[in-house]
Amino acid sequence: MTGPAGRLQGRRLALGITGSIAAYKAVDLLRLLQAEGADVRVLMTPSATAFIGPLTLETLSRHPVDADVLALQADSRIGHISAAHDVEAIVVAPATAHWIGAMAHGLAADSISAACLATSVPVVVAPAMDGGMYSHPATQANVDRLREFGYSIVDPESGPLASGMVGQGRLATLSKIVDATVEAVLGGATRAVAEAPSAATSRPVASRSDLAGRHVVVTAGGTAEPIDPVRFVGNRSSGKMGMAIAEAALARGAAVTLILGNVSVEPPTGAHVAVAVTAAEMESALRALTPAEGPVFDVLVMAAAIADFRPRSPSTRKMSRTDGLSLDLEATPDILAEVASRVRAASIPGALRPILVGFAAEIGSLYRATAKLQAKGVDLLVANDVAEPGSGFGTDTNRVTIYAADGPPEELPLMSKRQVAELLLDRVVVRLDARVPEAVSSAEERR
Ligand code: PMT
Repeated sequence: MTGPAGRLQGRRLALGITGSIAAYKAVDLLRLLQAEGADVRVLMTPSATAFIGPLTLETLSRHPVDADVLALQADSRIGHISAAHDVEAIVVAPATAHWIGAMAHGLAADSISAACLATSVPVVVAPAMDGGMYSHPATQANVDRLREFGYSIVDPESGPLASGMVGQGRLATLSKIVDATVEAVLGGATRAVAEAPSAATSRPVASRSDLAGRHVVVTAGGTAEPIDPVRFVGNRSSGKMGMAIAEAALARGAAVTLILGNVSVEPPTGAHVAVAVTAAEMESALRALTPAEGPVFDVLVMAAAIADFRPRSPSTRKMSRTDGLSLDLEATPDILAEVASRVRAASIPGALRPILVGFAAEIGSLYRATAKLQAKGVDLLVANDVAEPGSGFGTDTNRVTIYAADGPPEELPLMSKRQVAELLLDRVVVRLDARVPEAVSSAEERR
C-alpha cells in the first residue's frame, strides 16, 4: 500500500514497538507510514510480542521482524546493526517507561535500544503508559535525556487509560507521530554523533561503510571558459551539490577524487582534489581516469555544470573596452557521453563496469531528462529544475528526480543537498552490488 506521492516516498524506516497495550496501534501506524510511501521494517522488544504477534507485522511490512537482540539475519548480518545502518529514521511507538529509562541510560538489552545506540539517523519516540508513570520525575528525567540526544518526542495525550483511570499517557494520535517522522526525516534531525577520533577532520563519523573499498569520482562546480586572461564565460554553480556527494561518499568509506571547477565552498577533508577549471581541463582529467585498460573508479558522479559553449579563440591579452567585443562560441565536447563510451569500449572480461551518474540542470520541466539519460549513456541521471526556489545553483537544498536506465523515475521532495547525496548513493550502492563481471569485451565481440 505504498502511496504514489507520499511525504516519505522511497524512505526506509524502522518502527520499534515496545511492550505497551498501545502496541496494537502500531499496526495502523505501520500502514500510515507505508501510505506515505515508506518502506518500514519492524523491531520489537520481547514484551511487545506478548501484545501483538510478529507474524502480523512481518506480513504487513514484508520484512522479517527483529524481536531478538542476539539474532542474526538470514544473510548473517546482526539485525539491529543492519537496521541502524540501513534506515533513514527510527520511530519508537509506543515507547514504555522501561524502554525510555533503558534508552536514557544507554542500556541495549533489546533490538530497538541497540539499533538506536548504533545509529546516527533521526529517532522519533512516542511514549505511552499510565499517567502516574509518565509524570513520575524519573520518567520525566529520562524523557528529557532523550530530548538531549536530539530525539523527537511526540508527547502522549490526556484521556482515559487502559487502567480505567484518566491521565496523560495515551499514545499520541497516529497522524502526529507520522508528521513528526516526516519532519525528522526531511529536516534531517540527525542525532549529534559522539566525538570520535575522526571528528578532527570535521566530517561526520560514518554511519555505514557500504562504499568501503570503492573509488568514487565526483565533479563539482562550474567551468570557466576564458574570453581573455581575466574574463570568462561561466555559470552559477557553487559546487555545493558535488561537495555534498563527496562528503557523503567519504563518510560511507569510499576513497574520493573530487574534480573541481570554479567553486565557492571548501572541499571536504579526506578527498583527493584535482582542479579543472575549463571544460578542456575537465575532459583531460577524466580521460586520465579512463585509460584504454579500463576506468580507475567504481563510481563517477558528474555534478559539475560544464559549459556547453566556449569562446573559440580566447584573446591572449586583456581586451579593452574600446576594442568592442563579439564572442564567437563553439560547442564543448559532451564529456560525460565520451566517458561512458570509453568505459563501454574498455570492457574487459571479468571486470566490473563502473556506475555512471549524470546530473541535468533543467528549467521549468524535466521532460528532457529521459532523453539525456540515454544520450549520455549513464546508469542514473539526477535532474533538477534550477529555476525552482530552493533547488539548483548555490542553494543548500535541492529537489531532484532520479532517472534510471533500469527502472522508473523517482521524484524526491525538497531536502538538503546532503540528503540528496545520501539517497543517490543508496541507489548507486544497490547497482554496484548487483554488477556482474563482464563476460566478453566489446573488442572481442566485434571480432
Ligand atoms: O553546484 P551547486 O551550486 O550546488 O549547483 C548544483 C547544480 C545545479 C550545478 C547540479 O545540481 C547540476 O544540475 N549539475 C549539472 C549541471 C549541468 O551541466 O547540466 P546539463 O544538463 O547541462 O548536463 C548534463 C550532464 O552532462 C551533467 O552531468 C554535466 O556534468 C555533463 N556535461 C555537460 C556539458 C558538457 N559539455 N559535458 C558534460 O559532461
